[in-house]
Amino acid sequence: MRFKALTITLFVFLTVVCLAIAQTENSPSEKWEAPAEAAAQPNPEAKNPDAAAAGRKLFMRTCAGCHEEDGSGKDTGAANLRSPEVQAQSDGALFWKITHGNTEHGMPSFASLPETSRWDVITFVRTLKDDSGKGSEGSEGKKQGSGSSNQSRQQQ
Ligand code: HEC
Repeated sequence: MRFKALTITLFVFLTVVCLAIAQTENSPSEKWEAPAEAAAQPNPEAKNPDAAAAGRKLFMRTCAGCHEEDGSGKDTGAANLRSPEVQAQSDGALFWKITHGNTEHGMPSFASLPETSRWDVITFVRTLKDDSGKGSEGSEGKKQGSGSSNQSRQQQ
């Protein structure tokens, strides 16, 4: 009998421990933060007048499937790249996130893209900055984000 009680106690204890671990692992992606050193890296493409256009092309081809053409991700549930939370992050921080991804939460790693392309896409994401913070339609970013994003313009 004592043995049974012990088994039950142990079982309950282990269940609690497992639940606690699961909780931590599923906690929101607040922990997904770029290291300070990476976040401090400046965008070498920031002053290149062609960067945003190049980045836009890449975005439509590579990112829009999840983040949508306007970057809002409102129908797909991917991160809203127009949101103040994202726009407040440094270019270096976004570069780090795009490079490493967060595969557990559905964001692939794009380390295979050339570095310049990753910086270009960030330069484009900056043009999506949304005043309302909701990724709503009709703002500047929407026009830039969707516009004439037909296939022919996406080919290089
Ligand atoms: C397969 C779907 C998918 C693709 C393709 C994708 N993303 Fe994401 N992305 C996500 C998801 C889902 C998240 C949210 C991950 C999280 O919060 O943990 C995310 C998060 C991000 C973030 C971080 C947002 C934040 O909250 O800090 C950035 C920046 C980003 N994506 C940019 C891009 C760029 C640029 C591309 C194209 C090169 C791209 N993503 C392609 C799904 C995708």
